[in-house]
Amino acid sequence: MTAEALFEQMDFREDPLLEKMISDISEYHYSIIDDFFSEEEIALFRTSLLSKYEEDRFKKSAIGDHFHEQIKAGIRGDFILWINEQEASAAEKRFFDRINHMVSYLNRTCFMGILQKEFHYALYPEGTFYKRHLDTFQNDDRRKLSMVCYLNDHDWKLENGGELRIFFEENGKESFTDICPMPGRVVIFESQLLEHEVRTVLASERLSITGWMKTR
Ligand code: OGA
Ligand code: MN
Repeated sequence: MTAEALFEQMDFREDPLLEKMISDISEYHYSIIDDFFSEEEIALFRTSLLSKYEEDRFKKSAIGDHFHEQIKAGIRGDFILWINEQEASAAEKRFFDRINHMVSYLNRTCFMGILQKEFHYALYPEGTFYKRHLDTFQNDDRRKLSMVCYLNDHDWKLENGGELRIFFEENGKESFTDICPMPGRVVIFESQLLEHEVRTVLASERLSITGWMKTR
């Protein structure tokens, strides 16, 4: 056995953070991870988002895929900027390094078959929201996992609203859980299973990187 193959074998299922994520997803269809990125990385991503927003590069978000986009203010009010991995800045490279590690881990240990990914920055101004929805489109069901990484100010307060509300159905009864967008928090969920919404932002601006892991 080569050293590399041995290392690969030893490395198999050796990431406790990702193992926790995998077991949460298999049990609850979602996972909340507060230390996925370091504080330094979160600060880098936040600065990167804000500088691009100030350069006026964000666009009003739309409903539907890239080909069938429709702007509907009554459904979602965020502004977004897609991140191109090929043209990634140093901060964005740090982001994709972590994501690529996670994707190869999921593919290796859970045979997820993730072949593509897409991520965008998002900024929800005060008063905006995203109504209840599923992250899959009528003509495209490739999205398997949705991921949101919150980049809010370190003094973000519960009263600012903007919770991610995830809906469940348990024995025919509907329930939900509200997740506060604390800075540094990462939420991952099954795109095809969980309906969710972003509650109205009551104060400040709600910042994140949001994306999807897709099969072919
Ligand atoms: C989305 C979405 C959730 C969040 O962009 O599709 O549901 O918490 N985002 O920002
Ligand atoms: Mn969504």
